[in-house]
Amino acid sequence: MAVIAGNWKMHMAPEEARAFFSAYEIDEIIADNEVLIFPPTISLVAAYKCEDRDPRVQLGIQNVHWEDCGAFTGEISAEMAASAGASYALVGHSERRQLFGETDEQVALKVAAALRQDLIPVICVGETLEEREAGRVSEVILRQLDFALASIPDPETRFLIAYEPVWAIGTGKTATPMDAAGAHGTLRNRLEQAIGMTAAARTEILYGGSVQPRNAAELLAAQDVDGVLVGGASVNPQSFGDITRAAG
Ligand code: PGA
Repeated sequence: MAVIAGNWKMHMAPEEARAFFSAYEIDEIIADNEVLIFPPTISLVAAYKCEDRDPRVQLGIQNVHWEDCGAFTGEISAEMAASAGASYALVGHSERRQLFGETDEQVALKVAAALRQDLIPVICVGETLEEREAGRVSEVILRQLDFALASIPDPETRFLIAYEPVWAIGTGKTATPMDAAGAHGTLRNRLEQAIGMTAAARTEILYGGSVQPRNAAELLAAQDVDGVLVGGASVNPQSFGDITRAAG
């Protein structure tokens, strides 16, 4: 059982989203796996209503505001996302952190906002190349995780983590399965301390960063890797289909 998630980022207008679902072939393999797609918000309703979308392919929003409503021009609340068909919310993606200045505090508020609307948060953490080279991987990802965990009310709350080293996102450079396993192990240990062994064991930790059909199987086979979060390769129904099948 693995979680295969696609983050379409700022790609895939409504018409393209519909075309994706009519071409994305999922065979019975999906029965054992969970497939999630994070379309851009403008395409969420089209994806939700698309008759070609197998209802087992669930949808999420790429970002939410931490308030439920208000004068926040251009923002989308978790409540709106839920009413438009989202069941999941990406929170703290590195592009949000790096390009839009999102802080650990804001990430924590967004996790809380998602949970208020029963959206399952997918909490993204990851170090930059500079931080990796300075030997600070554990320090950075645990700090990011700890802030987000402060918004998890109890061990029964479902959430996912995505470990996405910033230097691997959209660069074609992938963490080795061993690198991924190391970081995932660090995160799992912290989860055990924070929410207990049982809850930590069932919390899926996804790897993200240049996941492709050619490397998906070996990453999914790595210790503590419970799924993948795919950016570039997720907008193509064939390559995303190949990645889904790699989870089989
Ligand atoms: P990528 O993006 O697969 O294009 O590297 C991953 C992500 O940002 O979630």
